[in-house]
Formats: sequence, structure tokens, C-alpha cells
Amino acid sequence: MKLDLSFVRSQFPAFSEPSLEGWAFFENAGGSYPCKQVIDRLTEFYTKNKVQPYYPYPASQKAGEMMDQAYKRMAEYLNVDPSEIHFGPSTTQNVYVLANAMRPMWKDGDEIIVSCQDHEANAGAWRRLAKRGMKVIEWHVDPQTGMLDVAILKGLLTDRTKMIAYPHCSNVIGYINPVKEISKLAHEYGALSVVDGVGWAPHGLPDLQDLGADIYMFSSYKTYGPHLGVMYVNQHLMAKLENQSHFFKEGIPRGMITPAGPDHAQIGAAAGILEYMDTLYQHHFEEDALPVKRVQALNHLFRDHEIALQEPLLEFLRSRDDLRIVGPGANQDRAPIIAIMPLKKNIKRVYAELIKQQLMLGIGDFYAVRPLMDMGIPTNPGVIRMSFVHYTSEDEVQQLIRGLEETL
Ligand SMILES: Cc1ncc(COP(=O)(O)O)c(C=O)c1O
Repeated sequence: MKLDLSFVRSQFPAFSEPSLEGWAFFENAGGSYPCKQVIDRLTEFYTKNKVQPYYPYPASQKAGEMMDQAYKRMAEYLNVDPSEIHFGPSTTQNVYVLANAMRPMWKDGDEIIVSCQDHEANAGAWRRLAKRGMKVIEWHVDPQTGMLDVAILKGLLTDRTKMIAYPHCSNVIGYINPVKEISKLAHEYGALSVVDGVGWAPHGLPDLQDLGADIYMFSSYKTYGPHLGVMYVNQHLMAKLENQSHFFKEGIPRGMITPAGPDHAQIGAAAGILEYMDTLYQHHFEEDALPVKRVQALNHLFRDHEIALQEPLLEFLRSRDDLRIVGPGANQDRAPIIAIMPLKKNIKRVYAELIKQQLMLGIGDFYAVRPLMDMGIPTNPGVIRMSFVHYTSEDEVQQLIRGLEETL
């Protein structure tokens, strides 16, 4: 079974938008195109239900129902309880709140391990706890490959380790870290496994029960949805967190770690991501299945498609002696988030030329400053990043390869 790409693309209005015609989109790790199910829900909410939710009059009731549905459906797809799902403004802000909510759980001198492969979202707020009595231990990346090594992590764990923060997949290195193994290891030491899933979730929503992380976060605006940060917090852990919201939110999971009034419309629209997944599933498979099984089946289709597209691109990049692939060059255990540094030409000029080839991609440090520092790569100008997802076509990848061939 192969992914029906024209069906997939028909679900994204951007692919029939005249102003985007001819442009190949390779900045998905920055933010994906939204699917039409999300756009429709957002429009519906803004048109009919943009009132304070949860009052008994119809417009308000419907608003509340749309929001509840988003919690329920997200939980179903991630295989957790709806009370364990939290929608905050962004992953960066979610981590900031979590760091404050978790600090009282720990004693002065307790240790937290923070990876150096992370986007700063899952780094800065944890590191700041060093000023509040915590000992912060850095888990460095390999300076050549940018990869994290679990053997090194083992040497960092002690009986005072309380938490390991690391990415499922870095937004510049692209390697898929073994979350299940790391979570198991963390638990052996009585520590928490805190995962930034922002880089990975667009490539396949995870089965969180299977992964075993205590906290898993991703940004729905990179996963075909509205601009929110989705956060799973295990309910046992939730019970130990300090309330970060109004005093009367104490004991109410949905309020305690999302202190601002939530963005009702965007939460309502987030259910559209799952409706999109339903639509894809029904298009490809005859037999119905539970959401967790649907997502598994879809993830296989996504992954096969992405690997097939990634192969010629990586092969092309590996064949060149005028660039460095930042991260692993092999097509295994990596997501299509590929960063390069031209070695013979000025990176900014190369980048400007690529844009002229109607390629939408990014340049810079992508807030992944620490991995670049570990690898000795100047954060300014940084690297050129090409990232794609399951809706990307072979023609677009060929356009990218041609663009690189002409430009490098
Ligand atoms: C891997 C990764 N983590 C975290 C973030 C931050 O997400 P947000 O913008 O929702 O704070 C990003 C954004 O680029 C990212 O790529």
C-alpha cells in the first residue's frame, strides 16, 4: 500500500493556491501547511462560535464542545487520557511553565540532565533552574555527527538525577532518538523522561503509552494544525506539579499548567488534525480501526513515502565534496530534516540563489544553537535546512536537487 499523494495534497489548500504555484516548500520544520479540516474548523469557530465557551446558550455550548472534542480526539490518537492533554500557546512557553511547576518537586542539589541537541525551547527554561538550586548536567552531542549517545547518558545518571530533557528528533540533526530506551533508562533511576517531540510529530503522531515518556510536547502549527503547543503530562506526574495558574485552578489539570486563558478557537480547530488523519485512513484502508491503530497504519505510509523521497536527496548530498551534511548522512533512523553547509561558496549567496529557484527553505541556527555550538558551527550564518513531510512530492525533491546542483 502506497500513500495516495494526490489525495493527500487535495487536503491542503496551499497546493492549489495560485500565489504558491511553482514554489517547492522545504521549510516544514519551521511550520507546516495547515490541512483544510483545520482551516474549516477555525473559520467555523470564528464565524459562529467566537464567544466565551461553556455557557448554556447554543453558540457557547458548541464552542465548548469543539474544544472538548479536540482534547478527546488528540488523546485518542496519542493513546492517553484526555486529562493528560494540554494546549498551550507554544512548546517554548509550555516548557517555561513546566520548569516552574516542577521545580518544587525537587531538592537543592538534585540533578537534571539536559541534552545539547535540543532546540532552545527544551533547554533554556531547564537550564535556568541552575540559578534556583538545581544541578544542570549537559548531555553533549558528537561533534562530528551531532548525535546523542545513550552510552554517554548512562555515565551522567546518578541517584540524584530527577529528569532527562531531550528531543525525539532534533530540528537540525534529523536523527530519531530512541525515546523508548531513554525513557526506560530514566525510570530505572527514578528520573522523568521529558521529550521535545516538535521535530518528530509531523512525521508520525506517537503512541505515548508505548513510548513511555512522562512528558511529550509538540507544536501543532508544524503538524498541519493551528499555532499551539500540545503537551502530554502523565497524570501521576500532574498530581505532583505546582499550580501555575489562578489559585482556584488548583487540582484542575486543564487549568494548572496553561496559565493564560487558552485560545479557544485554535483548540477547537486542532481537532481538524485528527479529522484529517481519519480522512486519510478511510481513503487508504477499508477496515475501521481504533485511532491508535489508524495512526500506526498511516505512520507506515508516511514513513515509506518520506524515506523514498529522502534517499535521492541524501545520495545527491553525499556525492558532493563541496558541502557538509550536518547530522547523519545515512537514510536510516532519520527524519527528512536535512541541514547542510556549503564548503566552497558563501552560504548566504547559495541560499539567495536557492530562493531564486523557487525553493522555500531556511537558513540560520533555527534556535538549535547548542547543537551547532557543540559541533563548532558558527550560528551566524548557521546552516541551510531542507525539511519536508508526507505531502511533499518527488517532483519537488527533484526541483530541490536541480536547484542545489545549479547553485552549489
Ligand atoms: C524541535 C523544536 N522544538 C521546539 C520548538 C519550539 O516550538 P514553539 O515555537 O512551539 O515554541 C521548535 C520550533 O522551531 C522546534 O523545531
